[in-house]
Amino acid sequence: MSMATVGIIGTGMFVPSNVLTNADVQQYVDTTDEWIRTRTGILERRIAAPDEATSDLAVVAAQRAMEQAGVGAADIDCIIVATMTPDMMCPSTACLVQARIGAHRAAAFDLSAACSGFVYALAMASQCIATGMYRHVLVIGAEVLSRVTDYTDRNTCILFGDGAGAVVLGPTDAGRGFRAFSLGADGHGAPLLRGGCVGGSRYPSEQHLPEGMTRCIWQNGKEVFKFAVRTLEQQTIAVLAKAGLTIADLDMLVPHQANVRIIDAAVEKLRLDPQKVFVNIASYGNMSAATIPIALAEAQSLGRLRAGHTVVLVGFGGGLTWGAAALVW
Ligand code: COA
Repeated sequence: MSMATVGIIGTGMFVPSNVLTNADVQQYVDTTDEWIRTRTGILERRIAAPDEATSDLAVVAAQRAMEQAGVGAADIDCIIVATMTPDMMCPSTACLVQARIGAHRAAAFDLSAACSGFVYALAMASQCIATGMYRHVLVIGAEVLSRVTDYTDRNTCILFGDGAGAVVLGPTDAGRGFRAFSLGADGHGAPLLRGGCVGGSRYPSEQHLPEGMTRCIWQNGKEVFKFAVRTLEQQTIAVLAKAGLTIADLDMLVPHQANVRIIDAAVEKLRLDPQKVFVNIASYGNMSAATIPIALAEAQSLGRLRAGHTVVLVGFGGGLTWGAAALVW
């Protein structure tokens, strides 16, 4: 079966109601609204309530995507949750979602590729449908990054927020759907970005952490910034080339939203019209794997995505990892 017959048939999103503004962040660390706004483009983020976990956000986003797709829970064959902040190690967040939405026929698993996770999951899901193994796959990106954010570290706490986005993948009309994927990783870059370090087999509890290391997100901001600009530019070109297209064919770029200066720098290098780039970082900050599906859901509800549009999604982040998808909407 040709790849072109698998596409996104529904989108949905959910973010917690609690808003953390730049003025609020100023209460925790030595920073200013002006600094955060000009250096990152972020104005506010959403923060989960103490009793809200990743699966809680994921369930609502998933139900909205299924409703839009007109696909019932019994029709879902598989659920993939891309996350770096699962409810717990086991069971997977995907299994918790499966039970809550009543998708009793569905296989379910989590996928770990940090901010690239959603695009990785799209690639896996679309292959399962293209080969005939499955018909409908629910792909979710969901994070509660506030649980692994150090609100005494001004280098990181300004950046991250919580949320969930979901899509239903299924068969689409010929001429629409996915055209190409480009995934990659460089494990040598692992030390540049880490988070959620406690609870795995290396550091099972806080007391096992080496001196100077915390359970929270830590990054080499400057190096990650350079990697991100380079990757966003190169992967956009690479995935378009794989699809037999060029930048001139692109109608909408939906990049991972980590810092508006990363997006601006890459868009300038690509010589892409900024009108063709979807940016919503001001309202949410960086929500890792949830960022791209939330951007897609918003772009669609704002009428920015039209049938026949050539769309590229590009994620990049911890691992280091990166992933791009080219599709016809
Ligand atoms: N408020 C005020 N000053 C701050 C600050 C804040 N929130 N955070 C850092 N600074 C200070 C630094 O301490 C530094 O001061 P110094 O020169 O006295 O040491 C100065 O601002 C410049 O720091 P620098 O790190 O050069 O800033 P930057 O312009 O690179 O911005 C990041 C920092 C983190 C916003 C930026 O590097 C970034 O976005 N990196 C990518 C991060 C990312 O996207 N990660 C996830 C990828 S998926």
